[in-house]
Amino acid sequence: MNPKTQEKKHPLFTPPDASGLATAVDVLRAGGVVAIPTETVYGLAADARDDRAVAGIYALKNRPQFNPLIIHVADRAAAEEFAVFDDRARLVADTFWPGPLTLVLPLKKMREAHNNPLPLPGGGQGGGQISTLATAGLDTVAIRVPAHKTARELLRLFGGPLAAPSANRSGSLSPTTPLHVAASFGDDAPMILADGPCTVGLESTILDLSVDRAVILRTGALGPDDFASVLGYVPSIYTLPLQGGGQGGGHTIKSPGQLLKHYAPRTPVRLRAVDVAEDEALLAFGSTKFMGVRGGGDLKTLPEGRVRNLSESGDLVEAAANLFRYLHDLDAVGAARIAVMDIPNVGLGIAINDRLKRAAE
Ligand code: TXA
Ligand code: MG
Repeated sequence: MNPKTQEKKHPLFTPPDASGLATAVDVLRAGGVVAIPTETVYGLAADARDDRAVAGIYALKNRPQFNPLIIHVADRAAAEEFAVFDDRARLVADTFWPGPLTLVLPLKKMREAHNNPLPLPGGGQGGGQISTLATAGLDTVAIRVPAHKTARELLRLFGGPLAAPSANRSGSLSPTTPLHVAASFGDDAPMILADGPCTVGLESTILDLSVDRAVILRTGALGPDDFASVLGYVPSIYTLPLQGGGQGGGHTIKSPGQLLKHYAPRTPVRLRAVDVAEDEALLAFGSTKFMGVRGGGDLKTLPEGRVRNLSESGDLVEAAANLFRYLHDLDAVGAARIAVMDIPNVGLGIAINDRLKRAAE
């Protein structure tokens, strides 16, 4: 059977015609997840402004960690709503977009969306900013304009940014056909916009333009030499020090620690808290009935803004959606420490605990 015939037969596959695209837009507006074709690999897409929708990606992927995700937009103008472009970034973008290139750029801070969230069509939070879960709390954003016809049409119809990591379960190979996506997720597979094999078949090249000298963070369809005429030099390839360092064609990065930084609050974090000290802030999870202030006080006696509950009902998807936003909030109240209640180490709890453990180190 040729791939196209198989696609038609598979019950999860939706053809990328007008009605399929309209359904995909409905699912995305409702905060759902859709597997979409791009020229590189299939992506697991959700509204990048909606923390809960992005948490849905993580829930499906079963990834034990929150890595920042790539944000897909229709064109450079749309990218400029969320990322800060200088002349260099505009030149690179206009040379390679649409195409298999992701740019890491400073995140644009639009307004105090955290304190003043505007409702989104899907009921999510974020007031038009990129979800803090999608950026994993960083102040940079990885963004790209895909070249695939269906991806572009979907982005145009959806009218907003889509966060989309590769559409595979953690640990399996990147999916370059709709059948790979279906096979990877099995019974949990989301709606799949099936549009044949990906032409590039390799993930996009990631170029970090948030630093003075551009660096390739992930190699892909485009190599260092492709950027020489635009940048005026051949960018180095970043390699983890553990992997033997500096094999980027003889270019070595001097201080790689700065490149792959993870968001962590400045305030010390105390895990598995069963009570909270007077000078601490509390990141709660589930019922706080048995939580009190050390020495016998009620939680309500803590100063305003010192308590955030990731999910009062103990829902791990809701907790993941709130994690980075609440860490940022509590980091800003001037507490001596952030005390964190125990979070079950199952499902999304594994990724939440991974991040909290790193914050506590
Ligand atoms: O080809 C692709 O790029 C595919 C298709 C679906 O577009 N997408 C993809 O996304 O590979 P994902 O989420 O699997 O890749 C995310 C990569 C990770 O290596 C992550 O560390 C990096 O992008 N990344 C995201 N935001 C970053 C940031 N602010 N700074 C540095 N790296 C970042
Ligand atoms: Mg991936």
